[in-house]
Amino acid sequence: MTDISQLQTDLEGRIAAAADLGALEAIRVEALGKTGTVSELLKTLGRMTPDERKVEGPRINGLRDAVAAAVAARKGALETAELDAKLASERVDLSLPPPPQRRGRVHPTMQVLDEMIAVFADMGFALAEGPDIEDDFHNFTALNFPPKHPAREMHDTFWLPEDEKGERKVLRTHTSPVQIRTMQRLNEKLPAWIANGQEPPIRVIVPGRTYRSDSDATHTPMFHQMEGLVIDRAIHMGHLKWTLDQFIARFFETPAVESRFRPHHFPFTEPSAEMDVRCDRSGGDVKIGQGDDWMEVVGCGMVHPNVLRNCGLDPDVWQGFAFGFGIDRLGMLKYGMPDLRDMFASDVRWLEHYGFSAFQAPNTSTGLS
Ligand code: DAH
Repeated sequence: MTDISQLQTDLEGRIAAAADLGALEAIRVEALGKTGTVSELLKTLGRMTPDERKVEGPRINGLRDAVAAAVAARKGALETAELDAKLASERVDLSLPPPPQRRGRVHPTMQVLDEMIAVFADMGFALAEGPDIEDDFHNFTALNFPPKHPAREMHDTFWLPEDEKGERKVLRTHTSPVQIRTMQRLNEKLPAWIANGQEPPIRVIVPGRTYRSDSDATHTPMFHQMEGLVIDRAIHMGHLKWTLDQFIARFFETPAVESRFRPHHFPFTEPSAEMDVRCDRSGGDVKIGQGDDWMEVVGCGMVHPNVLRNCGLDPDVWQGFAFGFGIDRLGMLKYGMPDLRDMFASDVRWLEHYGFSAFQAPNTSTGLS
């Protein structure tokens, strides 16, 4: 029966030409399915005489085996080709650098704050905090700002509307009110401390947000200060100078800092001073500890006797010094940021440039890690 070999040639040709697994399966069903051409031929065997079957059996079964083998071979080839195509299109190149991942950065103010805390903590200072919304007493009066004195206006104060008691609170204009809160607490605890043989010193630093209605390259309506306060018996300006010199040397990572104290006026200190450090501004950056220029870095002084009295402390027994840093300003100096306003503009590109890795130890020589 030549039609069997014709059918086989025909099927084998189509199987070999099947373009994909779907087309191949269609041919398989057409030939080997229940009512497929090959299956129908197999069924004819039952109706044949034994002699016919002897001749036709091997031919038809041979056809079936050949077609099944051709399908299996084509299937294997198509599967391999499919896998090869997939591998080629989805190839992973392990030598490629990973795609950039956006990571959060530590804001320079927070980095500088950590660095400042690390140095002062090493010198035995504790952290204190106070409210951002202050009353007039703590922000001004107790700090020896006379009532109606223009100094209250000097701070470009943000005043809040009158409350039900007719009092106008302020957004604190500096961190100095926390001096008052700290000394008041000291005064409350003093009798018990003295009874316990645990006298002061108080050594606190007070980092926090401060507010003034002001905006230019070196002023923003919100900025950060760090107050320092030391209260003890027999404290003098030498202690103040040593402390600030130590701080500046460690913060700017240079042992050769030269400082000078210029007389100044703050209502809450007497004497008052501004401390300048020697610097070089001849290049683009400011270099601390060298050059012919001076740069103001901190306001400071001995706590005014009136302030001590306002907190219930006897100025004949207790003295202290205080200082107030601009944290953002110090950061601008150390890390070369030209405009204070950029620090709070929330521009992610700026943060990516000037920000710090969260896993970086503070840049100080304290050995803190
Ligand atoms: N409170 C001052 C200001 O904001 C800064 C200051 C100066 C704080 C001298 C002090 C100090 O503790 O002793 O301008």
